[in-house]
Amino acid sequence: MLSAVVLISGGGSNLRAILDATKNPMYPVKVLAVGADKPADGLAHAELFGISTFVVEPDRFDSREAWARVLLSNIQHFEPDLVVLAGFMKILPADFVKALSPRLINTHPSLLPNFPGAHAVRDAIAAGATSTGVTIHVVDEGVDTGPHLAQSEVAVLPGETEHQLHERIKVVERDLLVSVLQQIAEQKITLNA
Ligand code: GRF
Repeated sequence: MLSAVVLISGGGSNLRAILDATKNPMYPVKVLAVGADKPADGLAHAELFGISTFVVEPDRFDSREAWARVLLSNIQHFEPDLVVLAGFMKILPADFVKALSPRLINTHPSLLPNFPGAHAVRDAIAAGATSTGVTIHVVDEGVDTGPHLAQSEVAVLPGETEHQLHERIKVVERDLLVSVLQQIAEQKITLNA
């Protein structure tokens, strides 16, 4: 059984997909806790499943490093095998990444290295891309630059909005994330920094 702490910032549909997968006793992943950088709507999914939550808000700290230290201590309290960034929208400082690497993964809504950063879906449309997708990767000290664990392609439909494309990407992303966590649990994927 792979134990995980999941970090979110928003609606948490990827988190919900993981939680729904854990309803199957054969699914080899257990979510120990869900953390967020704000009172994110997605925390309600954790509460529905009776899972601990914690919120560590950056603006309550004098520095990003101080914030990340408290975030890390909340995570380490649960002693997870893996930390999953599922729509967590803050850049994490090097010390945080070093403390968890390579047991820290992220899901990103583009086919990295194309369109890194916080506006991947918008950037793909602006670039006139005809296809994009999702990448699940190990987090390293760069932004969206760590080793890829899995990718899946999604066509860009003419004239669709950022929201429409992102929702279509998420359909693929949720299944891919659930599958990658299972493969890590079953040691079919090994994590290297
Ligand atoms: C996901 O597409 C993730 O790749 C991106 O933000 C989105 C979060 O969606 N960083 P949700 O909160 O899981 O619905």
